[in-house]
Amino acid sequence: MRRAGVPGGAPRSTDTQRDRHIPVLLSEVVESLAAADSQLIIDGTFGAGGYTRAILASANCRVLAFDRDITAVRAADAMLAEFPARLKIVNQPFSRMEAFARAAETEGGADLESGPFVDGVVLDIGVSSMQLDQAERGFSFQTDGPLDMRMSVAVDPLTGDAVDAGESAADFVNTASEEAIANVIYTFGEEHKSRSIARAIVRARTEKPFTRTLELADIVLRVFHGRKIDGRHPATRTFQALRIYVNDELGELATALHAAERILKPGGRLVVVTFHSLEDRIVKKFFSSRSGKESRGSRHLPEQLIKSEQPSFQIFNARPLTPSKGECEVNPRARSARLRAAIRTDAEPWPLDLNDLAVPQPEV
Ligand SMILES: C[S@@+](CC[C@H](N)C(=O)[O-])C[C@H]1O[C@@H](n2cnc3c(N)ncnc32)[C@H](O)[C@@H]1O
Repeated sequence: MRRAGVPGGAPRSTDTQRDRHIPVLLSEVVESLAAADSQLIIDGTFGAGGYTRAILASANCRVLAFDRDITAVRAADAMLAEFPARLKIVNQPFSRMEAFARAAETEGGADLESGPFVDGVVLDIGVSSMQLDQAERGFSFQTDGPLDMRMSVAVDPLTGDAVDAGESAADFVNTASEEAIANVIYTFGEEHKSRSIARAIVRARTEKPFTRTLELADIVLRVFHGRKIDGRHPATRTFQALRIYVNDELGELATALHAAERILKPGGRLVVVTFHSLEDRIVKKFFSSRSGKESRGSRHLPEQLIKSEQPSFQIFNARPLTPSKGECEVNPRARSARLRAAIRTDAEPWPLDLNDLAVPQPEV
């Protein structure tokens, strides 16, 4: 499917947009990763490259970066030219980091066998300022754009055109049942008026299908009689929910945590910055169970297997790090950020079981 409004190629983020993305908790991330010379660090969310640049400056290490959005990758040409031997960028979701990192390292001549080979993994979950600010990406309820919200923009290898992966937010709200829409808005937006919003959406789409962000924002605004909720636009939670659903953000996160567990060497570090409680809960649960702080129920696996699981991570900050008042003043988007980090032990990785992280899954 071709992106509406993007004839002949993926949208490019401008220099100004990239300059506007201020990396969140940057020094805390670099300190927590503690990269050393000749190490390999994976930056799973390249974005504007703020973390990658700081990591490359902190040691003579290599960075293998991922971003599912081709516009972020295309904007990295200058940085790639600056660090030809130390930086590679892969246009893939970070849930696939294990396979793509192995392939990239093997291609570069490394002999990995099947063991762990990475010294640090960092994830900065969510959307970038560039994505929010580009109206045509359809993430914003404040500026009008196509109701899209897909982060994955890839390139058709034959034509070079931008292609979209999967269902857009418009596809979902125009075709899903009222119950499915309510479930998504309730589960991923923690929105108590989810049923009224879903009803209003279904009523409105019979007149005219949704195509623009402001059409949807306006319907939600009407459900709230135009009132703000805690000083925020009432469509904030609905937009968050649709974005998480369309991009399978929580499934991506859970899969990536497991992948990091498999590829990190003993002593390697996993650093995750999240922006809302749904994400943070998953990271917290992962680290608590893997560090032995929380016993796991035996619902999914035989007792013997559970007994054999030794802590595979050691948490090194008991409470998540949060931005200072000063950082929040300079960058209000940092307000809800939380950084959790842990060091890989030499225990075997635990079996892959996404159920143990209780990733919320609305019925659709
Ligand atoms: C908050 S920004 C990262 C900013 C970056 N740390 C910096 O300093 O510039 C998040 C980026 O991660 C990307 N992203 C989000 N989810 C992803 C996923 N599952 N796989 C790969 N990239 C993802 C988005 O496309 C976006 O560019």
